[in-house]
Amino acid sequence: MKRSYWEKTASHYEDEIFDVLQNDKKGIIRSAIQKYASNKKTAIDIGCAVGKWLPILSKNFKKVMAIDISAENIKIAKKNNKKYKNISYQRLDMSSADNELPRCDLAICINALLTPDVKDRIQFLENTASCIRKKGVLILTVPSLESWLLSHILQQRFAIDKTSFPDTKNKTAAMTQWKNMLQGNVAIDEVQHKHYLKEELKIVLAKAGFKVNTIKKIKYDWHTEFINPPKWLKNPQPWDWMAVVMKK
Ligand SMILES: C[S@@+](CC[C@H](N)C(=O)[O-])C[C@H]1O[C@@H](n2cnc3c(N)ncnc32)[C@H](O)[C@@H]1O
Repeated sequence: MKRSYWEKTASHYEDEIFDVLQNDKKGIIRSAIQKYASNKKTAIDIGCAVGKWLPILSKNFKKVMAIDISAENIKIAKKNNKKYKNISYQRLDMSSADNELPRCDLAICINALLTPDVKDRIQFLENTASCIRKKGVLILTVPSLESWLLSHILQQRFAIDKTSFPDTKNKTAAMTQWKNMLQGNVAIDEVQHKHYLKEELKIVLAKAGFKVNTIKKIKYDWHTEFINPPKWLKNPQPWDWMAVVMKK
């Protein structure tokens, strides 16, 4: 998942990219941010894209840093948030080893740690830890592999949206798919995105120097997974994981 991919999505971002802020109907992530809010503290939005979370951060913190790998996204984020004067912007690749990183009290990273490349992910998390002061907080949201599996098991069992889920007929493609799945990499719109198990997330975050406080589900409507979900399909709902962790 290279920079070019994110630059290309910028112009049709609203149509293509899942909006966590809109779909977190209970406002769980917003509440987590507000819990740590202070007009004496600084915050950073890692992978800010078009800047949907910036108004919340701007109103709740003294200074806000917005970073993204995509110059196009940064341009749109700036335009969308012109009226907030305490935000500064930087184009930066969190998977690169030579970054001059800012340091803040709170970081949010909402569905940005998605790269299927394990080395890029390790560097991304290492850089994320460097952006946060000791005892500072990271609010991280990532796709859930458990939720992805549940959707696929239900899809097979009850033949939901059959034409949208064709079988993989080609042997080589099936083998690639299998190897990717063993690493938690699954396709969204034909592009590999890392998905995480809850227990995996605990280990990965602890290794990166964080104390794990909470890992919670951010629940969505079944229409986010299927075009025609069965009427009886209510609970459990599909979900992302939100981890709230403290820098040691
Ligand atoms: C799915 S979007 C999520 C955007 C935003 N956090 C939100 O919730 O609306 C993922 C964002 O992460 C950014 N991103 C992906 N890899 C990155 C990296 N290595 N460094 C910085 N930003 C990255 C992408 O450019 C994209 O804007």
